Amino acid sequence: MRESELLLLQELEREHAAFVDQLERLHQLVGSLEPTSPRGEGLGSLAALVAALAPAVRRHADAEETRLYPWMEADGPAPFDPKLLATLRSEHRTIDALLSELCDRWTEVESGEVGAGPALAKAAQSLRGTLSAHLQRENLLVFPRLRRIWKG
Ligand SMILES: [Fe+2]
Ligand SMILES: [Fe+2]
Repeated sequence: MRESELLLLQELEREHAAFVDQLERLHQLVGSLEPTSPRGEGLGSLAALVAALAPAVRRHADAEETRLYPWMEADGPAPFDPKLLATLRSEHRTIDALLSELCDRWTEVESGEVGAGPALAKAAQSLRGTLSAHLQRENLLVFPRLRRIWKG
């Protein structure tokens, strides 16, 4: 039994569940914006959500890349497929770029730029699709297997 690794896994899984909820909330809030001139009560919630989501997802990916993936890459009794690791790392890069895109589009909405609403919706949709697929991949192909190995 590897206690600290199992605790890390638990924390990462908790964050995955939180990200799924936040992506759903983002989808709802962006969908409720008035396209031509985004206004209204959703804006405050959206500001808080965008401000919270980007650093949290980046911290999470960093924890995986520094603490989880190296363990998965190391020689051991049950090595992971290097192609899976390469895919996961590549998805992190894409997600990082999509978070930047979301933040940029959000800044435009906040400053009242014309056409900013639909551009924000597009950025939110791209992030939701890519991040959801990535979380799902880790939930299915990484976490259960690591839990089995670490529980011993
Ligand atoms: Fe990840
Ligand atoms: Fe993750």
